[in-house]
Amino acid sequence: MTTDVSRFIDVDRGEIQGEIFHSAEIYEQELERVWARSWVFLAHDSMIPKRGDFIQTYIGEDPVVVVRQRDGGVKAFLNQCRHRGMRICRADRGNAKAFMCSFHGWVYDTAGNLIEVPHEETAYRPEVFDKSDWGPRPVARLESYRGFWFGTWDAEAPSLTDYLGDMAWYFDAHFDRYASGFEAIAVHKWVIGANWKLNAEQPSSDMYHGDVTHVSAKQVMGIGPTPDREGHQFSGTFGHGTGWWDVGGNTRRASVGDAWLADHREEVVERVGERRADGVRGHANIFPNFMFLHNGTIRVTHPRGPDEFEVWAWTMVPADAPAELKEEIRVKVLRTFSPGGLFEQDDAENWVEEQRIMRGYMARRSPLVYTMRMGEARRDQHGLPGLTVDHPYADEGSRGMYRHYLDLMMSPTWADVIERKRERDEPVTARPLDKNGVSR
Ligand code: FES
Ligand SMILES: [Fe+2]
Repeated sequence: MTTDVSRFIDVDRGEIQGEIFHSAEIYEQELERVWARSWVFLAHDSMIPKRGDFIQTYIGEDPVVVVRQRDGGVKAFLNQCRHRGMRICRADRGNAKAFMCSFHGWVYDTAGNLIEVPHEETAYRPEVFDKSDWGPRPVARLESYRGFWFGTWDAEAPSLTDYLGDMAWYFDAHFDRYASGFEAIAVHKWVIGANWKLNAEQPSSDMYHGDVTHVSAKQVMGIGPTPDREGHQFSGTFGHGTGWWDVGGNTRRASVGDAWLADHREEVVERVGERRADGVRGHANIFPNFMFLHNGTIRVTHPRGPDEFEVWAWTMVPADAPAELKEEIRVKVLRTFSPGGLFEQDDAENWVEEQRIMRGYMARRSPLVYTMRMGEARRDQHGLPGLTVDHPYADEGSRGMYRHYLDLMMSPTWADVIERKRERDEPVTARPLDKNGVSR
């Protein structure tokens, strides 16, 4: 039995009912149709640099171990012992030669093979038990983009490249700046009592809340109200979104890294072009749950029922930057977008309060308005790849996110998802893009 979620989401009218944030049945359907199907960020190369390095994470509610292999490759598998279903690896991260389940002692190697079973010879007859059949379930597809590893349980999913589509161009503005790449530091994890989508739609779309939600934080930090200047919002085929103000409005403060940044300016321009060197970086979400901001924070959210999610956040710093610059970036993120960060606390309060209100029957059956700048989006305008709107105050990113969400929730297979997009004439394969964007 599946719920017809289109009763609650009308993207063409720009109306959504809060039932999708509250319903336990819809949440169960999401575990199957969103989480067991989407490409989900698992780890960055710098989190598991050496052979045997591992990190534990989640795809939805399913725990996953990601391990650097002897040959430099990466494998990922369900963190579940095939004996009675206990967690195989219980450490958040580390280095291991093998993983021993702490229930009855079955041992798995780092490639995900079952290699040892206590009392195997006496307890299991070979005709009913062959160790090689019982490795943990592997993540069906694992692909990396610029050192960021994503995995999906669905072998039929489009390639990661197609899934990212034009979003890759916006991602590169953040993370393709230096030949030496980026490094993940300073992990923080915390829990928020709200539905994961209330959070995810924000970096896809909502820059509109800044001046009001964050007014006191901005005052404390000496930042005035946002001047109404040029900016854009992008919405991708597979639910991704980003928004940014064009260059010129942010208060640029002196940085201990100014000399290093100036030295590397040419490299950045060479790699991503003038425009992305200085702009096209604001907030962003790769659907469903991989978010990043211009200041260097990246995070995944792990859903924990309809009314709770965990945030796991890291700070990304240029790998070759001097230690003082890395430290400055770390502290800036800590003060703004960590569990104690001024902006982060403002945001969480909104989501938690929205979630509480959705307990009310009338509250979750009253349509909410997602019509901001509806009908204004155009493809490939002003050199910007994909569907964009000429202002970051828009709901295009959210509408795109829920359009894709609905595609997933209404479709039994990936082929059906793609079919729905084709019927709307949406591009479903990636195309090569120039560093300066698209020309018309
Ligand atoms: S549950 Fe893992 S060894 Fe028994
Ligand atoms: Fe915010």
